[in-house]
Amino acid sequence: MKILVTGGAGYIGSHTCVELLNCGHQPVVIDNFCNSLPESINRVQQITGKKLPLYRGDIRDGALLDKIFKEHKIDCVIHFAGLKAVGESCVKPIEYYDNNIGGTLSLVNAMKRNGCKKIVFSSSATVYGTPEKLPLTEDCKTGGTTNPYGTSKLFQEKILSDIYAADNGWTVILLRYFNPIGAHKSGLIGEDPHGIPNNLSPYIAKVAIGELPEVRVFGNDYPTKDGTGVRDYIHVVDLAQGHVAAIEKVNAAGVYVYNLGTGTGYSVLDVINAFSAACGKPIPYTVVQRRDGDIAECYADASKAERELGWKAKLGLGDMCSSLWHWQQLNPRGYNK
Ligand code: NAD
Ligand code: UFG
Repeated sequence: MKILVTGGAGYIGSHTCVELLNCGHQPVVIDNFCNSLPESINRVQQITGKKLPLYRGDIRDGALLDKIFKEHKIDCVIHFAGLKAVGESCVKPIEYYDNNIGGTLSLVNAMKRNGCKKIVFSSSATVYGTPEKLPLTEDCKTGGTTNPYGTSKLFQEKILSDIYAADNGWTVILLRYFNPIGAHKSGLIGEDPHGIPNNLSPYIAKVAIGELPEVRVFGNDYPTKDGTGVRDYIHVVDLAQGHVAAIEKVNAAGVYVYNLGTGTGYSVLDVINAFSAACGKPIPYTVVQRRDGDIAECYADASKAERELGWKAKLGLGDMCSSLWHWQQLNPRGYNK
């Protein structure tokens, strides 16, 4: 299949391009590099030994999208492009809604103009807000998002569902990711956050390599097994393979929602300990106040994806930490060598 991958140079996009190429699909990438570098695509080509077309540009540029649709017979779109930092979204709501909502509208308009009606969308467990029950199933209530980033994901899910309601020829696949971490086993591609990381696993990796002094654990008074926050961490390669399963298995028109997680929750201290085992040294940490907007616990019931897509996460927390450590050691400054 020929697949337009928006945001394909980013963390999850680059890993998905590798899996698509490995399965004989033909990704075509558009990225404006606002949070990535073209080097990631060079690395994808190095890993797979295959070339892929790359367009530098913004998905809000309808003329560029038309050009891509004219130059390639696109069967389906995997839509990663967007801004994703929760804290930043509270400070820059206009930029977040413009890029995320505006970008999606521009994309679906171009798809409509060019007769492409199959889209896989990068959604997030954040759409569930504070979980009504655990593990989270796809039919759990959504809403109650606490920041513009999460709200933009909720709106984008709604926009795509409404498009199907108006035209039953569309296939809309909403993939709700839990917490993707880790890197490709080659160590050639991985997460490359700018500045001080917001997320736990890249922060731990920077402490391990000596760039940051210690991990700040945001609260140890949650009602969880050790008092620290619990999340469903999923290896980014498993997550990438979930996209391949979705485009291959879902062919009928409709709206499909899948949780992509492992079904297991790990605490902040579990992740610190697993990373310490992977890198062979203790990770210093200190407990500080809770972070605003954090929930105590969040993990998936991922059985629907297994039943309907034949997909199940295979890699454990140890693999996630050792692959991240491998990437961090080989690329201490990310792609900016
Ligand atoms: P990322 O920032 O590494 O990748 C996003 C890519 O999109 C970047 O390469 C960026 O340059 C590009 N981009 C952004 N706006 C663009 C635009 N207007 N036009 C063209 N390119 C644009 O992020 P990621 O972690 O790979 O996330 C991919 C998607 O998955 C995002 O939509 C994100 O919200 C979603 N998601 C991520 C996580 C996570 O923890 N990483 C969790 C849930 C959902
Ligand atoms: N944490 C720390 N110290 C840190 C960073 C995080 O203790 O320096 C804790 C948090 O309090 C939380 C856990 O580690 O308990 C995970 O936090 P992350 O920031 O890594 O991830 P979140 O679960 O907050 O959010 C991530 C993405 C969102 C996405 C969500 C669900 O950042 O975009 O997963 O998919 F929506």
